[in-house]
Parts: sequence; C-alpha cells; structure tokens
Amino acid sequence: MKKYLIISVLGISATFGSCFYDVEEELYPSLECSTANVTYSGTVLAIIQGKCYKCHDAATNTGNITLEGYANLKKYVDSGQLLGAIKHSAGYSPMPKNESQLVECDIAKIETWITEGALQN
Ligand code: HEC
Repeated sequence: MKKYLIISVLGISATFGSCFYDVEEELYPSLECSTANVTYSGTVLAIIQGKCYKCHDAATNTGNITLEGYANLKKYVDSGQLLGAIKHSAGYSPMPKNESQLVECDIAKIETWITEGALQN
C-alpha cells in the first residue's frame, strides 16, 4: 500500500513539473532571452570577462590566446574561432575549457553582436 502511494506522488509531481515548464517556455520565449541592443561594452565584455578572462586575459594568455580588449577579441571573431569555440562546433576546441557551455542566451547575444558587425560599441 505504502509503495503505491509513493509511486503516485512521484508520478503526479513529474507530470505537473514538466507541464509547468513547457507552458512557461512557450508563452514567454521573449522574456527568457533578449538579444535586442547587444553591444560590446554593455553585453559581450561582461560575458567574456566573467567566463574567459581567468584563462585568456592578457596576463594569463592561456594557449597563447588573449581575449582581453576589443582588438584582441576581434581577431578571434574574424577567424571564426570565438563562435566555433563557444558553440562547441566541430573543428574547434570547446570553451570554456573543462566547464559547462555558456548558457544559450549568452551564446545568442554574442552571435547577434557578431552578426551585427562585431562593432566596438
Ligand atoms: C580553464 C582555462 C580556459 C577557460 C576558462 C577558457 N579557455 Fe579558451 N582555451 C584554453 C586553452 C588551454 C586553449 C588552447 C586549446 C586547448 O587546449 O583546447 C584555449 C583555446 C581557445 C580558443 C581557440 C580554440 C580553437 O579551436 O581555435 C578560443 C577561441 C578560446 N579558447 C576562447 C575561449 C572563450 C570565448 C572562453 C570563455 C567562454 C574560454 N576560451 C575559456 C583555456 C581556457
């Protein structure tokens, strides 16, 4: 008897749990991630600083790669390596190294900034 009770409680919470999540995602996709008005100084820099500078600032320069400052970052934008690395595309070393991939929204913001010309804005 006790066993059945536990199983049904688990079943109910699994059902409602997933249901709520799905509905929220469908109803409010734009609240989840906004790629409007992305800029280097206001958006991209903070992501790169937070997730990449510990290995790729000018002083650390891991793998002989510095992403500190616009001009240095831009080199890896232009070569396609920045996007390839953060999207874990085939042929690139997945970044941040040995850590979980950037959240989708941060990748989308960086990709938008690049598509819009990777300006020093
Ligand atoms: C723990 C240290 C570490 C962190 C954190 C890290 N990297 Fe790297 N990165 C490396 C190393 C080491 C290499 C040299 C290639 C290799 O060993 O995979 C590298 C290589 C790269 C390359 C060249 C990859 C290629 O295939 O040409 C890019 C671009 C890059 N990193 C970008 C980033 C970005 C963007 C972040 C943050 C999202 C980041 N890295 C975070 C250590 C790190």
